[in-house]
Amino acid sequence: MIKNLGILTSGGDAPGMNAVIRAVVRTAIYYGLKVTGIERGYEGLINNETRQMELHSVSGIINQGGTILKTVRSAEIKTRPGQDKAIKVLKKNNIDGLIVIGGDGSLQGALMLHKRSRIPVIGIPATIDNDVYGTDMTVGFDTAVNTAVEAIDKIRDTATSHERTFIIEVMGRERGFLALEVGLAAGAEIVLLPEVKYSLDNISKKLKQGSRRRKSSSIIVMAEGAGNPFTIGKQIEENVGGEIRVSVLGYIQRGGKPTACSRVLASKFGAAAVELFLKGAKAKIVAIQKNKIISLDLAVVCKHKKKLDLSSYKLEAILSI
Ligand code: ADP
Ligand code: F6P
Repeated sequence: MIKNLGILTSGGDAPGMNAVIRAVVRTAIYYGLKVTGIERGYEGLINNETRQMELHSVSGIINQGGTILKTVRSAEIKTRPGQDKAIKVLKKNNIDGLIVIGGDGSLQGALMLHKRSRIPVIGIPATIDNDVYGTDMTVGFDTAVNTAVEAIDKIRDTATSHERTFIIEVMGRERGFLALEVGLAAGAEIVLLPEVKYSLDNISKKLKQGSRRRKSSSIIVMAEGAGNPFTIGKQIEENVGGEIRVSVLGYIQRGGKPTACSRVLASKFGAAAVELFLKGAKAKIVAIQKNKIISLDLAVVCKHKKKLDLSSYKLEAILSI
């Protein structure tokens, strides 16, 4: 029977991570468990940066972006000596279940620790990239989409006034989930994704079509993994003419208050993770599919790559003719 849960956040922060921490701590205490907070992700685990989490430790954080436990990208946890140190710290603190809140990289780390120590682990998918296999949505994704859309709506105002084309780079690492959702919600004329081949010819054709039908502005949403927006911008200027402006949205997408959707998902994921431990789970993630909270084997999740929904890509193209 589990008595003491460890909890850490890892990888890029995501709005709603705090709401997950709150839900885990409150649910665990509700069921009579202790929670040990591990600061600075796997780096803090290796260095034994721990503190006891109480009910008041998570007061007033449901609406805060970032993570109160801090986060780090740790190279050491990928090494055997690093993992040995981490496992020693888990044992020294009597942690008999570990909750890892983060993206696909963080989940790989959790699986590795479980394989080496047999300590039960549960992963909670939280990343603005939405690239975790098996879950329709990750904590933070909805907030990042809304932040990017709000920014693009503003850029649209100036683009329309100046009759310009803008290329707007959004995050997502080497995946296009965020860019696609943002493109659809912002009514972008073109979306460029790492998963879908694009050609300068097709981009030019579409922009020319737009100006023939007197479109007063065009927005190209480009995933950061789809190439260099400044290079594409220059090529478009040479091919189509006009003034192309580039706007890299950057880290604003990672910050800010979580939306209600991110908070609710975070709360459900956090509670479900604790309950999974109580049911004896050894290595799982919590996930949402078709609006239902489920669990999946961590090993299966780590072995697969999430597929992009091409029907959304087609819809985006149809709606922007
Ligand atoms: P995210 O979790 O947001 O996808 P990263 O891919 O940067 O972010 O992963 C976060 C952290 O998880 C890494 O800095 C590293 O500490 C750990 N990690 C990633 N991949 C592995 C791996 N294969 N084995 C062990 N730990 C890993
Ligand atoms: O994984 C989240 C993310 O924001 C990606 O979208 C982006 O590519 C990356 O993190 C940026 O990482 P860093 O914070 O290390 O610059």
